[in-house]
Amino acid sequence: MRTEEIAEKLINGEAPGKAELLELIRARTPEVSKRLASAADKKRREVYGDRVYIRGLIEFTNCCKNDCLYCGIRRSCRSAERYRLTEGEILSCCAEGHRLGFRTFVLQGGEDPYFTPERVSSLVRAIKAAHPDCAVTLSVGEHPREVYKLWREAGADRYLLRHETADKAHYERLHPASMRFENRMRCLYDLKDLGFQVGCGMMLGSPFQTPATLAEDLAFIRDFRPHMVGMGPFIPARDTPFAGERAGTLEETLFFISVVRLLLPGVLLPATTALGTIDPQGREKGLQAGANVLMPNLSPTAVREKYALYDNKLCTGEESAQCLACLEARVASAGFKIVTDRGDSKIQ
Ligand code: 5AD
Ligand code: FES
Repeated sequence: MRTEEIAEKLINGEAPGKAELLELIRARTPEVSKRLASAADKKRREVYGDRVYIRGLIEFTNCCKNDCLYCGIRRSCRSAERYRLTEGEILSCCAEGHRLGFRTFVLQGGEDPYFTPERVSSLVRAIKAAHPDCAVTLSVGEHPREVYKLWREAGADRYLLRHETADKAHYERLHPASMRFENRMRCLYDLKDLGFQVGCGMMLGSPFQTPATLAEDLAFIRDFRPHMVGMGPFIPARDTPFAGERAGTLEETLFFISVVRLLLPGVLLPATTALGTIDPQGREKGLQAGANVLMPNLSPTAVREKYALYDNKLCTGEESAQCLACLEARVASAGFKIVTDRGDSKIQ
């Protein structure tokens, strides 16, 4: 089938098979990408209108026992200056965020053994008690099912765990041998089964990524039906094995945002910080290509620069939640409006 025909099929709501997805990825042209972006924008307006949901991101620890090869806060990255926020600091971030209009808090961190299952539970309970009208999202990596269950019972609503790549061999080239592809997948299925709204996702342009691994990603997303999909360009991080690799592109990221919007119309799609880092208008362009979520940083300014997953990460000025007014203006210029809402997914 020709690329244009596959694109039309996707636009008409017929999920293409893996071979067709591969063809679409491999043979896309700027015209096809443009057609997909406008169809994705239309679809997103049908489902979510012009609303953009905001999530207050709290990067509460950059200590991590893992050693993902791409990550600027991996265990062996000596230059990362480590920090942990206290429970009190985290709660004041939430209080400030609530005042600003945030109704979702995302607690993101490395896999930090200091934050035991019990500590995370009590944190979730404290946030839910202080802000019962808010959703709490955890993003703290791989854990046993029992631990996820404990956190769900503590009141956590959502969980972000990017699958990173749905191709086992590719996964093994991005991670140390101690991390298993099967465990990543087990985590995602457990989280869904426990009733979390689940976010998966991948970087675009990561080392060793190919059209074939990307077709696996899309087929996985199509079948797993996550509530959210986080996608941003890979950006090399200093002092990592991939420090000298090329970054992913704006064009490729926007293409995948549009395709995922069309594959799963009700999905929540963030225009990520990484997208804003590679292009000054990246997040606005992401919204116009089908994204509907922004995740401004609520972490205390003093630690923001230390959560350096990659180089030159946007972390000051307009990225900050305190500058919500600037963000509102940017979103308005792209043709959308920020709302104060939990912003639950429309995926059943
Ligand atoms: N470039 C872009 N994204 C990155 N992440 C980690 N390291 C990088 C990098 N160098 C992404 C991963 C992870 C998420 C929190 O950030 O996909 O899941
Ligand atoms: Fe753990 Fe990146 S390797 S957060």
